[in-house]
Amino acid sequence: MVYVRKNQRNLTRAERKKFVAAVLELKRRGIYDQFVQTHIDHYTADGDHGVRVAHMGPSFLPWHRRFLLDFESALREVDGSVSVPYWDWTQDNTPASSLWHDDFMGGNGRREDLQVMTGPFAYSGGNWDVTVSASDGRFLTRDLGRPSQAIDLPTKAQLAWATADPVYDSAPWDSRSDKGFRNKLEGWAAGEGNERFLNHNRVHRWVSGLMLGGGSVNDPVFWLHHSFVDAVWSRWQQAHPSAVYMPEGTDASSSAFGSRVVGRDEPMPPWGDSPSSMWDHSKIYRYAT
Ligand code: CU
Ligand code: CU
Repeated sequence: MVYVRKNQRNLTRAERKKFVAAVLELKRRGIYDQFVQTHIDHYTADGDHGVRVAHMGPSFLPWHRRFLLDFESALREVDGSVSVPYWDWTQDNTPASSLWHDDFMGGNGRREDLQVMTGPFAYSGGNWDVTVSASDGRFLTRDLGRPSQAIDLPTKAQLAWATADPVYDSAPWDSRSDKGFRNKLEGWAAGEGNERFLNHNRVHRWVSGLMLGGGSVNDPVFWLHHSFVDAVWSRWQQAHPSAVYMPEGTDASSSAFGSRVVGRDEPMPPWGDSPSSMWDHSKIYRYAT
């Protein structure tokens, strides 16, 4: 049975509640933190050693598609009616959005230490202790819009600029690729200050707090963000039906930084699945508009 991922703004009150309950149950069982750890383990940047599989490379999209599927199947073992909703940040682009209400993701961090004080993932509620993180804090932090260095969420025009590119990715297959859909969506750019962050990266930056860096999975909004990134990829695939994953093979997969990227049919650690095996999700889930 193909299940549906919905826009979070269209969830019913009951659906919001079920999603939150399933996330909290994974946290209680210690499963959630395994996902945080996996993401930290694969947070390799340009210039680091080894295979650059999850970020700053062509397999950014299929790696996160695979990661979301794992998380979603864990959620669905808790409650088979749950899927990962998506947050269209071109639409719900302010802290006033219902996304941040107390029955769902909870709100912004307080000013003195950015600690989230409201909603199900507030440390003070007793259900959301941050145990796996690159930093020391035990609590979820957010700094929506980053007032000290104010940044806006990506606009529809900025996203359209990415999806208009018919080529999946291009050399040097890293954060410097200035052509290709993948990096225009992942969002590494040249420039100064906030101009360096486009689309996907800009959203991490806008939420800020724990959403910055390898420990970003500690904020459950990570999943809603990446569900939308995946939905954008899915729409791009439909709009460009002859497009294929690039690079094709190992010959093309070494970047100037010397760390390798994953070719079309090569395995993506920690799984054995290749980017090509993640290309078509239509037999597993689809996106509601
Ligand atoms: Cu990531
Ligand atoms: Cu991300």
